[in-house]
Amino acid sequence: MNEPIALSAQTRATLARDFAWGVATSAYQIEGAAAEDGRAPSIWDTFAHTPGKTVRGETGDVACDHYHRWQEDVALMAEMGVDAYRFSISWSRVQPLGHGAWNDAGLAFYDRLVDGLLARGIQPSATLYHWDLPQGLQDRGGWASRDTCHRFADYAEHIARKLGDRLATISTHNEPWCTATLGHAWGKFAPGDKDEALAADVSHHLLLSHGLALQSMRAAGTRTPLGIVLNQSSVTAATDSPADVARAATEYASFVRWYMEPIFQGGYPQDAGIAHYPRNVQPGDFAIIGQPLDFLGLNYYTRIWASTATPPVPSPNALGVSDMGWEIYPQGLTELLTGLHKRYMGLPPIYLMENGMANADTLEDGRVHDAKRIDYMRRHIDAIARAREAGVDVRGFFYWSLLDNYEWDSGYDKRFGLVHVDYDTQQRTLKDSALWYRDAMASVRLEAGRG
Ligand code: FCB
Repeated sequence: MNEPIALSAQTRATLARDFAWGVATSAYQIEGAAAEDGRAPSIWDTFAHTPGKTVRGETGDVACDHYHRWQEDVALMAEMGVDAYRFSISWSRVQPLGHGAWNDAGLAFYDRLVDGLLARGIQPSATLYHWDLPQGLQDRGGWASRDTCHRFADYAEHIARKLGDRLATISTHNEPWCTATLGHAWGKFAPGDKDEALAADVSHHLLLSHGLALQSMRAAGTRTPLGIVLNQSSVTAATDSPADVARAATEYASFVRWYMEPIFQGGYPQDAGIAHYPRNVQPGDFAIIGQPLDFLGLNYYTRIWASTATPPVPSPNALGVSDMGWEIYPQGLTELLTGLHKRYMGLPPIYLMENGMANADTLEDGRVHDAKRIDYMRRHIDAIARAREAGVDVRGFFYWSLLDNYEWDSGYDKRFGLVHVDYDTQQRTLKDSALWYRDAMASVRLEAGRG
């Protein structure tokens, strides 16, 4: 095998200061222990246990058993030398029904985890909502109900009071587009609804709940930097035809601007191609949604290719696709970041909260030779450096994911991890990409004189 290529001197110099290197996970995808210590089901438990919703009917009941093996997982992160770890809190572990009683035994897990990370010098970055609404709230209307926004604000305040002083950042939502669109319009994710008008209402409630949560956490006196994590893409029109150009504009409006503009500009984008606007906007909502952010989290995996032809004009896929079938297009990350920087003045510091690829990895003689993942990482880290050189204030990179884990409706089929997980034995093995990442981080620290 060829030696993997190291980060370039230019990239190392650009990212040497004020830049955090991390890895990311989420609760339902790794924890397991679905019914332990008082945890109640979330909508993902319900969805995954519904026949036909996930590959081979796989669920997160056991996942990576991180609930019991978290110390080993923290040790792996320390071995790699990450600065920060982004994880999410399972709401139904700390408040089983999403309203009413708190579950101290559930909170104690995060307490141990946070202290364990800090003891190893790893900054804990928590996400409050990574798609796992307590089923008890779904039973009362879920995100279609305005009351859920207030329950979320209570939950956020509880976490901020209990853990806030030890957390490096708190993000309210992860990828609200996925909750709204994949969960309520396309039926691909929990709770599995297929109703586009409902999805628009849900997107508004997610944003409202975000604003209410920022207010409640700040009112409780938290000084932890607060933000939200949005999934975004660059968009390319397949041709110069007016129809493709218009389609690209609509894709950008419904994917990127839909969440940016309520937060930063006080309203939803107007675009002729958008079919549904929320029916549940009340006076004063945008003032709540537009609470100042301490940081903006972004997740980037691939670009959106906009073609109106039948069949669609295919994208060139010059670097191929990942095991998810997603085009590998690192340049899109630079385009996205510089585009946001130009369009929205005065954005807060940005963290790349997720970026990574699924690969059909195999474990052979204790090694996983995932050269494609190394190439993907290097090119995307370069793309961040180029955006920074163009003036975008990017402060960190979190690889998705620390571990191979439960990839939602794809079950355990898709491996995103730097660490290989054998699901029969729960044996963890650092892949070549984990070793490359360790060396890359070390080389940047050397550059900064922090070696
Ligand atoms: C993102 C999710 C994350 C993971 C990756 C592959 O959309 O936030 O949980 O599934 O995609």
